[in-house]
Amino acid sequence: MRPSLLTAFALATSAVAQVTYQNSTGTILRTDSGSYGPEVEEYHYYYEQWPIGLTISSTGRFFVSYTRGNYAFTLGEAVNKTAEVPYPSADLNLPVSALNTSWNGIQFSSGNSTGLISVQALYITPENARRPETLWVVDTGRPTITGEGGAPTMPYAQPGGPKILGISLTNDTVYATYTFPASVHFPDSYMNDIRFDLRENMTASGHGIAYIVDSSDEGRPGFIMLDLGTGESWRRLTQHPSTLRVDRDVPSYQGHPFYQRTIGLPIQTLREGLDGLQLSPDGKTMYYSPLTSNYLYSIPTAYLRTTPASDPLAEISAANHVENHGQRGGNANGFEGDNNGLIYQCMPEHNAIYVYNPHTLLTEPFVRDPRIIWPDGASIGADGYLYMNINQLPYQATWNYGKDGRTFPGAVLRVKLPNGGKKITTLG
Ligand SMILES: *[C@@H]1O[C@H](CO)[C@@H](O)[C@H](O)[C@H]1NC(C)=O
Ligand SMILES: *[C@@H]1O[C@H](CO)[C@@H](O)[C@H](O)[C@H]1NC(C)=O
Ligand SMILES: *[C@@H]1O[C@H](CO)[C@@H](O)[C@H](O)[C@H]1NC(C)=O
Ligand SMILES: *[C@@H]1O[C@H](CO)[C@@H](O)[C@H](O)[C@H]1NC(C)=O
Ligand SMILES: *[C@@H]1O[C@H](CO)[C@@H](O)[C@H](O)[C@H]1NC(C)=O
Ligand SMILES: *[C@@H]1O[C@H](CO)[C@@H](O)[C@H](O)[C@H]1NC(C)=O
Repeated sequence: MRPSLLTAFALATSAVAQVTYQNSTGTILRTDSGSYGPEVEEYHYYYEQWPIGLTISSTGRFFVSYTRGNYAFTLGEAVNKTAEVPYPSADLNLPVSALNTSWNGIQFSSGNSTGLISVQALYITPENARRPETLWVVDTGRPTITGEGGAPTMPYAQPGGPKILGISLTNDTVYATYTFPASVHFPDSYMNDIRFDLRENMTASGHGIAYIVDSSDEGRPGFIMLDLGTGESWRRLTQHPSTLRVDRDVPSYQGHPFYQRTIGLPIQTLREGLDGLQLSPDGKTMYYSPLTSNYLYSIPTAYLRTTPASDPLAEISAANHVENHGQRGGNANGFEGDNNGLIYQCMPEHNAIYVYNPHTLLTEPFVRDPRIIWPDGASIGADGYLYMNINQLPYQATWNYGKDGRTFPGAVLRVKLPNGGKKITTLG
């Protein structure tokens, strides 16, 4: 450059703010604000235990689950904006010392079918003629324990440990307990989330059905169905490509390519299969996807409800009716759905909630905010807000060579749904 040009260049740049090393406050360039959509409100703060699942009752009671670990309790109810207490009682929790046992050198989780072991997901169904408003509790029966040298491990399940409990919100008492045979809930299954259709005509028993996702990291993910009248359970789409993890999927969180760094193990990628699920308001369609996939799938629920005993071709017909709705723009974690038929999906890579719109056939933006650092459970309240847990999961110790990079508080954020959207109440 000639000296005169250099001078002109210096003059031009001094006229605008100087941008220093990755400090773009004063830039004249376009930047990404990291946010869009309706107002995000900070509803609750977690200071003691990191949450997983949440659900809000018709009267605004707010329940939360925490996987164990060494936490004292695994199911809680918020008592104010900054604290939760054990629910329905501290006594219902197995003591940490009783969470696991061993046999021939193999660690197994407790087979206790009445005490709480490690609760992953929660869901509230409204009162109907046959049951009170009910808090449904998904106890995976598989805590994470810490072995030699700080290496975390998730012991195999024993029948009895993995269970679904129904708690009446009228008397705060467990009134229903369902366990699973080892042929339905495998020792390495992991029940991640649940939805209900309680209408009488769903099953011969007339007491409704639960649809559960088995996200098994170890390898046989699929759906588990539970007849709430007979207690009979069965599987569907086990290891179907639409329920399997995507091999060596590397998502990015906050702009960092993510690998799991666990003490005692080689560096790995996430391995979770079938994770998010949501019913359409008419109960006819189940939307779902594995955590590590960018694709959204669905299946008519009739193919999930067929029992293996009633139709030897149940598995093949189900596989023949899986619908692929294409990519949605990233991995998705938990799902929720409203009475307008929108399928909300937590998008941990984008600090966002996206929506699949069955009317436009497209995935659409809903809300994005830099505070949404790993949106986990999402739940719609009677007030038409979507509540989501924020738990900073990628920074947890078990994924970072034992170094806990999470910083309290965790949070519940809430956002008003579009177009007067409400919780689905058409499924009995
Ligand atoms: C970033 O730059 C602005 C001016 O453009 C300055 O006021 C601010 O102090 C800088 N921030 C940091 C963290 O250096
Ligand atoms: C919230 O509840 C906890 C537990 O009962 C209590 O210790 C705390 O003081 C309460 N905080 C406020 C602001 O009321
Ligand atoms: C199961 O766990 C509960 C809660 O800790 C306890 O009260 C109960 O005695 C246990 N049952 C058995 C069979 O150990
Ligand atoms: C449960 O797991 C812990 C941590 O690995 C271990 O120290 C303890 O011995 C186990 N308990 C039983 C009964 O195997
Ligand atoms: C609580 O309610 C459930 C469901 O209505 C009922 O089955 C149970 O008997 C009640 N338990 C108590 C202790 O009132
Ligand atoms: C159950 O009954 C509802 C009407 O109450 C109907 O819309 C639905 O199609 C029925 N479902 C099945 C599987 O028969």
